[in-house]
Amino acid sequence: MFNQRVFSGVQPTGNLHLGNYLGAIANFVRLQNRQTFECLFCVVDLHAITVFQDPSELRRQTREVAAAFIASGIDPDRSILFHQSGVPGHAQLAWIFNCVARLGWLNRMTQFKEKSGKDRENVSVGLFAYPNLMAADILLYKATHVPVGEDQKQHLELTRDTAQKFNNDFNCPDFFPLTEPLIEGPATRVMSLRDGTKKMSKSEPSEFSRINLSDSADEIADKIRKARTDPEPLPSEIAGLAGRAEAQNLVSIFAALEESTAEAVLARFGGQNFSTFKSALVDLMVARIVPIGTRMGQLLNDPGHLDRIMWQGAARADAIARPILAEVYDRVGFLAPIA
Ligand code: TYM
Repeated sequence: MFNQRVFSGVQPTGNLHLGNYLGAIANFVRLQNRQTFECLFCVVDLHAITVFQDPSELRRQTREVAAAFIASGIDPDRSILFHQSGVPGHAQLAWIFNCVARLGWLNRMTQFKEKSGKDRENVSVGLFAYPNLMAADILLYKATHVPVGEDQKQHLELTRDTAQKFNNDFNCPDFFPLTEPLIEGPATRVMSLRDGTKKMSKSEPSEFSRINLSDSADEIADKIRKARTDPEPLPSEIAGLAGRAEAQNLVSIFAALEESTAEAVLARFGGQNFSTFKSALVDLMVARIVPIGTRMGQLLNDPGHLDRIMWQGAARADAIARPILAEVYDRVGFLAPIA
């Protein structure tokens, strides 16, 4: 039925925000609805533990990401929605990729440099090897397309390098596909509401830097009202956004929320001041985000239901992964199972 397969993942590390939604989850829903791809959407709990997670919080946050997927429009019958630890093949293939990818490749990963900071000697080995697990997530299903925000681009390049090296090393030129990143839409990099030069992030201490999917209408209004801007009115053309990071960010967010373009937003608001624009932005954001938060809350009241959905998804994912992993084991030279 499908010849193209989509895989993407979101970490259950709390504070799901507007960047996760516009940069990733909203695109997952669009791809699912296009019906040309088989879609796998994964709550990547193995990735989350590269930084210590309280065990009961991890379980809660795993369910929270599943709830966010469903509340945003992912249909667990049409797409495969599952938790990464539910399919053992992720960890198995990641080990093989630890032995394929080169230390020098991982040393170049900017996200590791940012996350490890000055304390490099003290971070987990898992945090360093993280991109290999990500390559395994994707290639375990021979996924052809991976929708992500812009911050994941370098990791996807490493996935392609790993696929290519495996194919070369084991003399199987077309075994793993060279996966295409899908970094699409006006909001592939949503920035902090407090500082337009910094990415909106789960780990930023200030709540005013981000819109959480669980925010109420009042919280959204308050955060947008306090969002940093500059004193000029909005320009009518894109060129007028140059050097105005905060204005650019809010315009991109608006465009993504109404599924239009920055040009269309400026055609409407060019020449107007921020207070008019911000109040339209609040209305739009509340209409899009609050129903998702409300639905997430309802879904989280029944954790057993979410767990069943994820385990059913894991069984379907495992059925795709097993024959691929078996072929990898065979190519690498591991013993065949005894018949
Ligand atoms: P994570 O959990 O940090 O983020 C989930 C998704 O949200 C996107 N995103 C953003 N997009 C736009 N603006 C932002 N400010 C912003 N912040 C986050 C991310 O790009 C991502 O698409 N390593 C991944 C998870 C992962 C994965 C995978 C993704 C693990 N295995 C395989 C794709 C395929 C991560 O940490 O995403």
